[in-house]
Amino acid sequence: MFVAILGRLPKLSIAELEAIFGKSHVRAVSYGAAIVDTDELSIDSLGGSLKCGKVIHTLPADNRPTLEQASHWITHTYVNQLLAVGGKITLGISAYGLSTSPRQLQKIGLLLKTSMKKHNVSLRLIPNTTTELSTATSHNNKLGLSPKKRELFIIKTDDGAILIAESNGAQNITAYTRRDRNRPRRDAFVGMLPPKLAQIMVNLAVGNTAKTTILDPFCGTGTVLQEALLKGYDVCGSDLSQKMIDYTTENIAWLQNKYRITGTVHSLTQADAMTHQWTEGQQLDAVVCETYLGQPFSAPPSSKKLHEVTGNCNHIIANFLRNIHDQLAPNTTLCIAVPAWRDTSRNLTHLPLIKDLEKLGYILQQPPLIYSRSDQVVVREILLLKTA
Ligand SMILES: C[S@@+](CC[C@H](N)C(=O)[O-])C[C@H]1O[C@@H](n2cnc3c(N)ncnc32)[C@H](O)[C@@H]1O
Repeated sequence: MFVAILGRLPKLSIAELEAIFGKSHVRAVSYGAAIVDTDELSIDSLGGSLKCGKVIHTLPADNRPTLEQASHWITHTYVNQLLAVGGKITLGISAYGLSTSPRQLQKIGLLLKTSMKKHNVSLRLIPNTTTELSTATSHNNKLGLSPKKRELFIIKTDDGAILIAESNGAQNITAYTRRDRNRPRRDAFVGMLPPKLAQIMVNLAVGNTAKTTILDPFCGTGTVLQEALLKGYDVCGSDLSQKMIDYTTENIAWLQNKYRITGTVHSLTQADAMTHQWTEGQQLDAVVCETYLGQPFSAPPSSKKLHEVTGNCNHIIANFLRNIHDQLAPNTTLCIAVPAWRDTSRNLTHLPLIKDLEKLGYILQQPPLIYSRSDQVVVREILLLKTA
């Protein structure tokens, strides 16, 4: 059994896990953590989780367990696993859902250190400035990636149990930054999808399907296509702008040069998503895209402007959905990010078409999920749809 430490949008993280492992294998145990019933869970396969690890001990809820009991198990039982490894070991300890302090966690570490010293095994403790080690700290110290570099999660579940899990890795921030920043072409004006979100959307659309062809009909600089290719999927891309097709072409060539890519690029075409026929000779298994989001705003627009931009985006996206519907087999999944706009009271204006999805021939698979930073006016609303 594994545990995933969820990202800052837990609903999105859970939806991603459910898409990959199936709803019955995923259980949220607290606001920030979910249990995944699987024999293997790699953080690299997930965009929405921060860390994951194997559950190695459970203190059941019936006994109303405390941090002291968890500490006792770690310093009296788990210590033997560390001693068996020998040499110099690095350890971090993170607590989730427990009302404790960094000092208390350090105390557990110091107890371990003292008892290991007696056996001539040295322990380097990662200092806690917070009770949860940050993803960056865990990643930079390579915690969970080898027997000598470990991180323990002590997790209090909503029903009162305490789980102790051993990390097998934290989100690879360096790899995401490299995929985002180091590629040759970026375009701040069209607004690029963070690779992490593109990865989540690909997972939401295709779960753990082994081989599939994904279309992004608003491909921009190609972020979705990059993440799909990295997962071994075949891709088709199109965009209204030839410049964007050129950018995507360059970015994919860069990716193919840097990574071992097994997926095939079937086509990259300049095309209007409202009218184009993609499927001649090509079956599309899923559609993943960030649609046109309208112009960026640094402050909420006037109601006249908002009406204009909402109408414009709604026109393009509704016509795209109408156009592609009959080109897809029934039951095909689409994961699309569409815009919504936040006003000064933090209320959202949604695209009118969201109310008309059934009329357009689509079934919404789960309530729309918002992906945004707190200061954003134009936020992304993630729709997971199936063709009826
Ligand atoms: C928000 S951007 C997508 C950015 C992309 N996800 C990325 O990471 O670079 C939306 C894209 O939709 C394209 N677009 C706008 N109207 C379109 C239409 N009618 N058909 C196809 N593409 C369109 C724009 O050229 C732009 O590249």
